[in-house]
Amino acid sequence: MFQINDNYQKLPGSYLFSTIAKKVAAYTEANPDRKLIRLGIGDVTQPLAPAIIEAMHKAVDEMAAAETFRGYAPDLGYEFLRNAIAENDYKARGCDIGADEIFVSDGAKSDSANIQEIFAQDNRIAVCDPVYPVYVDSNVMAGRTGTYNPDTQMWSDVIYMPCTKENGFVPDFPKEAPDMIYLCLPNNPTGTTVTKAQLQAWVDYANKVGAVIIYDGAYEAYISESDVAHTIYECEGARTCAIELKSFSKNAGFTGVRLGYAVVPKELKCGEVSLHGMWARRHGTKFNGAPYIIQRAGEAVYSDAGKAQLKDQVAYYMKNATAIKEGLQAAGYEVFGGVNAPYIWLKTPGHMTSWEFFDYLLAQANVVGTPGSGFGPSGEGYFRLTAFGSYENTLAALERIKSL
Ligand SMILES: Cc1ncc(COP(=O)(O)O)c(C=O)c1O
Repeated sequence: MFQINDNYQKLPGSYLFSTIAKKVAAYTEANPDRKLIRLGIGDVTQPLAPAIIEAMHKAVDEMAAAETFRGYAPDLGYEFLRNAIAENDYKARGCDIGADEIFVSDGAKSDSANIQEIFAQDNRIAVCDPVYPVYVDSNVMAGRTGTYNPDTQMWSDVIYMPCTKENGFVPDFPKEAPDMIYLCLPNNPTGTTVTKAQLQAWVDYANKVGAVIIYDGAYEAYISESDVAHTIYECEGARTCAIELKSFSKNAGFTGVRLGYAVVPKELKCGEVSLHGMWARRHGTKFNGAPYIIQRAGEAVYSDAGKAQLKDQVAYYMKNATAIKEGLQAAGYEVFGGVNAPYIWLKTPGHMTSWEFFDYLLAQANVVGTPGSGFGPSGEGYFRLTAFGSYENTLAALERIKSL
């Protein structure tokens, strides 16, 4: 008789967003006349930029002729895309990352879930709390997290680094040295980030204790402050301790198109073993490449027209972020984030729990947000709103919240 991977049985409850979807569906069924405004899930709403659409059309036409048709993509991704990434995301920022250190993928969710595979089973992971749930859940599935305590909502073998208003949402170095440190900056869900100097301290710490940093830069395009690093490789010593994951979802609206990449520097080694070689082996065996059409779309992100159009798109969402932040502050809420990220993290009023505030907002304002406790125990008492809606809906939602 076959046996299952028992680790899956350890995963608690349903995924946060399924719980939200169920609650929203129940409310809609009971109140069919109410128009809900959704500022919950972090999905974009603006259409793909014209430069991207144009590149995709051209690539589709290429697929229609034998001379220009493409089959399987090269293992690491097409050179035209990896060169554009190396040039624009790294060299232009003074960072020494070669095109052959970039692995094109179908997005940062799969990369952030898969990367743990190349590390030992008994490695200790450290995560910020609250956190993007994929980092912990993928390690649960791999059997690396010990046992779950439903009372504390914590895993026995995970090191949690609380990020709350008390520490300015900047994690302290853990008491016990971790082997793998997940950092997502600018952060989902808190919408906050750290300065380049604070990130440098993390790089120094990782190099000192011999840990690897898995650095998720999915929201890099939203950075507006000058003392914030756009990539971890702006920090000295990051080439020996950090893997960076990037996504085209939030900077270019590729949530449904699917494209991302991982950077594994060649100096990143465990003894004599290069992680670059391991990830190349893993990628070659388990992934058959992002589609040619989509990689051409990704290339267009770095064209002059693409850059200008996407700058406007990011500015559109950040206008929403500013409106939410300032509107809520004026209404007396304590609000964080929204300056270098499209997320607003607010303290729930009147000591409501995160889920109590979710229910209250849904029923009284018909606005859907995300309970902070769904991202980890330190998210209790907080609530996330996203700036990814339309400007009109964002303003309408704010009016409803203000009038509560
Ligand atoms: C922190 C973080 N990483 C990764 C992702 C997923 O990125 P992708 O769409 O490239 O899989 C998200 C999506 O919300 C995210 O918030």
